Amino acid sequence: MFNKRTKIKEVLAQEPMSQEVTVMGWVRSFRNNQFIALNDGSTNNNLQVVAQLGKFNDELLKRITISASLKVIGTLVPSLGKGQKMDLNAATIEILGDSDAEKYPLQPKKHSLEFLREIAHLRFRTNTFGSVFRVRHSLAYAIHKFFNDKGFVYMHTPVITASDAEGAGEMFRVTTLPFDNPPRNEDGSINFKEDFFGRSTNLTVSGQLEGELGATAFGDIYTFGPTFRAENSNTARHLAEFWMIEPEMAFYDLEDNMNLAEEFIRYIIKYAMDNNREDLEFLAQRLADEEKQLPQDKRAEMGLIEKLEFVLHNNFERLTYTEAIDILKESNHNKKKKFQYPITGWGMDLQSEHERYLVEKHFKKPVILSNYPREIKAFYMRQNDDGKTVAAMDILAPGIGEIVGGSQREERLEKLLARMKEMNIPAEELWWYLDTRRFGTVPHAGFGLGFERMTQFVTGMTNIRDVIAFPRTPKSAEF
Ligand code: 4AD
Ligand code: MG
Repeated sequence: MFNKRTKIKEVLAQEPMSQEVTVMGWVRSFRNNQFIALNDGSTNNNLQVVAQLGKFNDELLKRITISASLKVIGTLVPSLGKGQKMDLNAATIEILGDSDAEKYPLQPKKHSLEFLREIAHLRFRTNTFGSVFRVRHSLAYAIHKFFNDKGFVYMHTPVITASDAEGAGEMFRVTTLPFDNPPRNEDGSINFKEDFFGRSTNLTVSGQLEGELGATAFGDIYTFGPTFRAENSNTARHLAEFWMIEPEMAFYDLEDNMNLAEEFIRYIIKYAMDNNREDLEFLAQRLADEEKQLPQDKRAEMGLIEKLEFVLHNNFERLTYTEAIDILKESNHNKKKKFQYPITGWGMDLQSEHERYLVEKHFKKPVILSNYPREIKAFYMRQNDDGKTVAAMDILAPGIGEIVGGSQREERLEKLLARMKEMNIPAEELWWYLDTRRFGTVPHAGFGLGFERMTQFVTGMTNIRDVIAFPRTPKSAEF
């Protein structure tokens, strides 16, 4: 057996009492031919390995370069130097893998996030990305724990589908037909009967429709998987491939839905605060340093930790779309024509600048907007009695904008069919979805949380490309 190592995070939590430990990791730095800072990804804190002068031959010492991988067996002793509690006095050092310091792209200095994106295969080895991805992991774990503890069933919805759940047409096609000479129908259109699935298929934009099938049997389900959108948005908040959590609950109305979403967001933030304190403090400092470069009015009013604490201890502001439009319309910002898209009136879709004005300037806290005009929302949302709005809700977060989109679903077959007809959604193709409304329909609701946007919120990373390992965005699919 090779692996008898102790993780460095665990080593650093011990009291040094000359006990023997084995560690393995990558060299972050090597000073004075004697002091190795070793990191194994379990924490940003390095273990100081001491290679006593004269004890190791020059041949070996020369190979201890940045990012070389080592196995070290030694004894833990209180450190004589400042800056660390303990040293690992090396008895043996084995080089597991050499690293050519001249060619290694990460130098021991500060690199820009843009540069690190170009070497995303190595960026996990930096402190920033170490922290970000450990926090991302914790959030994922907390999500499963939250729903598991409440008795929700984790449902795996298909990645390849024939339907457009959001009806927005932003889909990536999945096909095995040849591009140069696809089979055609008599009228010249492509004959998808010849395609792999015998029909036109695409990557899913949302697992919701299948999720509703689960909820109307299990009661409460959630999905957590990758979703794909071919929207040509090159922004700091959009990915072509992102992960979404979509709970769906039978016997829920819009208010129940909002309550669950709020409880859920608080729970996962609290989980990270309790379990990733060190990483969050590192990220808070990083963000504070970054913000020092910004003009005063562009800086956040709260530090990262303070912001997360604030969310834990304050209810989200709840208001209707109609009330939000009134606030935006009457705002000085609008009157002074500072919005790129001026507020024209009821019925318009809100842009992210409007959402961010509401959360960052007006309310200074997360906001839940509800009851949007039906014309700007998806076909499945429950129609309100006013004939104009639907029982939709979006949660808007400071620094991010929309983080959750959800609704109570239209459970009344006739109303749903009528709306689908108006919106040209083919009822024949969604026969299976409509069956839930035919056989024991119930009031139900659900929402989708964008996992990367949530991770941005918790880590304070301003670009969504920096919270997913290998971002897919327009014109970019490296790694
Ligand atoms: O608002 P959306 O489009 O809602 C749905 O897909 C519903 N089916 C959810 C449901 O009710 N079950 O997307 C939900 C969330 C957004 O609020 C946002 O956080 C995230 O998904 N999102 C994206 N994240 C990154 N990149 C993109 N291109 C995103 N599009 C949506
Ligand atoms: Mg939305």
